This record gives sequence, C-alpha cells and structure tokens, in this order.
Amino acid sequence: SEKAFVMIKPDGVRRGLIGKIVNRFEEKGLTLAWAEMMNVSRETAETHYGHLRDKPFFGELVDYITSGPVFAMIVEGRGAVKNARSLIGPTDPAAAPPGTIRGDYGLDVEENVIHGSDSPDNATREIALFFNRM
Ligand code: GTP
Ligand code: MG
Repeated sequence: SEKAFVMIKPDGVRRGLIGKIVNRFEEKGLTLAWAEMMNVSRETAETHYGHLRDKPFFGELVDYITSGPVFAMIVEGRGAVKNARSLIGPTDPAAAPPGTIRGDYGLDVEENVIHGSDSPDNATREIALFFNRM
C-alpha cells in the first residue's frame, strides 16, 4: 500500500511530542512501517528542501532542520500521503486549525513541528534520501 515520508522536526523532538504525534497517525489507521531517530546532515537538508533554495528563509530552514535529531518515519496505508498531509495541516501553524498536528502543537511557521511528503513521487524520493531504502 501507499507510503508517506513523515518527519518530526527538531522542535517536536525537543519538546517530547514523538509519542503524541505517532499516536495521531495510528489512531487514523495508518501504520508505522519504519522509524529512526537521526541527525540530518546539511547536505541532506539542502537536497530535501532544494525547491526552496531561492527563498530568503532557506538558510534558516537548513539551520532549523539540522539543529537536533529528527524522528523520521515511513507511514503506510491507503491514501497515506493525502491522509498524512490532512492530519498535519497547513504549513503555518498560526493558520492551521485545531485538531491538526500543526494547529495543536505549533505557534509559527519558523518551527512547524512536522513534515509530510506532498505527493507519492516525492514520498519515494524522500524515503530514498533519508533511509536509502524503499
Ligand atoms: P513540509 O511538510 O515541511 O515540506 O512543509 P509544507 O509542504 O507545508 O511547506 P513547504 O514545502 O512550502 O515549506 C517547507 C518548510 O519550509 C515548511 O514546513 C517550513 O518549515 C519552512 N517554511 C515555509 N515557509 C517559511 C517561512 O516563511 N519562513 C520560515 N522560516 N520557514 C518557512
Ligand atoms: Mg513541502
């Protein structure tokens, strides 16, 4: 079945939110197929966010993602990519509704707690980039 790459960002890990966040995916009916606590290299962060290279916040974004360990996951199940994105909520936690992960656990876009792949193709790319496996 479909796989999504989901990553609890360093702020989420620092704040002790791993268990609560994993629980959201499990309650929804998605399966945790693989997970690893890891430090992201600058090179991996720059590749992962390559589409944002020209944004003024790119340097800050790479600093943020490399500021401490992340909890990287493969979440599996029917419609895993779309379902994970809807659990996660909009990019800016200030605009994300309560009930979404960003809406419940974040305050502003600089530290928005979690990443989820935006398409099945990007999920495949991200799983290869972070885990070197599929
Ligand atoms: P991801 O799931 O992390 O890819 O988020 P997204 O798909 O909802 O948003 P997008 O891919 O456009 O942006 C990637 C990440 O860049 C966001 O999750 C934020 O961490 C960061 N980001 C986006 N906009 C801003 C911004 O205006 N300022 C800062 N500092 N970071 C931003
Ligand atoms: Mg994105």
